[in-house]
Amino acid sequence: MTKIVVVGSCSVDFTTYAPRLPNPGETLIGTKFTTSYGGKGANQCVAAAKLGGKTSMICRLGNDQWGDKYRDNLEQVGVDTTYVKLTPNVTTGIAQISVAESGENQIVIVPGANGLLSKDDVKNSAKLITNAEVLIGQLETPFETTLEAFKLNKGVRLLNAAPARTGIDEILPYCSILCVNEPEASLLTGIDVNVNNAVTALKKLLETGCESVIITLGPKGAVYLSKHEQQAVHVLCDHVTPVDTTGAGDAFVGALATYLVTYRDQPMHQIIGAACHVATLSVTKEGTQTSYPSKFDAFKKEYKFIEL
Ligand code: RIB
Ligand code: NA
Repeated sequence: MTKIVVVGSCSVDFTTYAPRLPNPGETLIGTKFTTSYGGKGANQCVAAAKLGGKTSMICRLGNDQWGDKYRDNLEQVGVDTTYVKLTPNVTTGIAQISVAESGENQIVIVPGANGLLSKDDVKNSAKLITNAEVLIGQLETPFETTLEAFKLNKGVRLLNAAPARTGIDEILPYCSILCVNEPEASLLTGIDVNVNNAVTALKKLLETGCESVIITLGPKGAVYLSKHEQQAVHVLCDHVTPVDTTGAGDAFVGALATYLVTYRDQPMHQIIGAACHVATLSVTKEGTQTSYPSKFDAFKKEYKFIEL
């Protein structure tokens, strides 16, 4: 029985590695080029599956040179692909990514088939969506589709509001957990969010109607506040030298979903700490899905946290 359902994007990532990111109009000589499986939705689904989560992916791929291969890739890590739909006359989504030696990146995406994920796709998989223990959505596929799915689900609805955009107010009251990074939180609150003003940002985001909020802070861990508890917490994580931060946020979201299911009675700071640990491991390796740990239990560790 599927427990984690992702309604979201699949893209093929074309990644170049270079000493630094190019300036506008500049040409740089890179050091390496890779083609790999990405897209925020699928990354999150694969991250959850690799940690032992029972996952299903609801998405659209193009019926092109990538579609079948991408579906095989999902199946290889144990993702249920019953609702992965290959669509004629459209390309599979792609992302053009540049990664600097510092680990920072720049991404341009062309949605292709991701743009066609529809309310009908949600209707066709309504039973699965309704009963999912954790339903995950992002903002790389049509907003109305994600909204429709969130309205149906009776479990934990986890929205990763990425990439950053506004105009998503309607879905926020349906979110059990809203998970954003600093730029996304800044755009939604109008505050320039950082670790020092995170509590103000958390409170402001709770006012949108969601049940709880997580703001991820990269190497500084994550902050969390729920409307059921009065206390905001800051969960810390280990420092590492980043190699490639692409998809680290997705590793966090996927891990969070798996640990919410497998460690449901554990305190939230511990679940968030374990998810941060998985994301931290992912930045020490190149790529997205290939950098996520397999059969790994981050829960064995006790995570440090501060009450804010
Ligand atoms: O979050 C990382 C992902 O964003 C990449 O895999 C790329 O596909 C873009 O969508
Ligand atoms: Na990585």
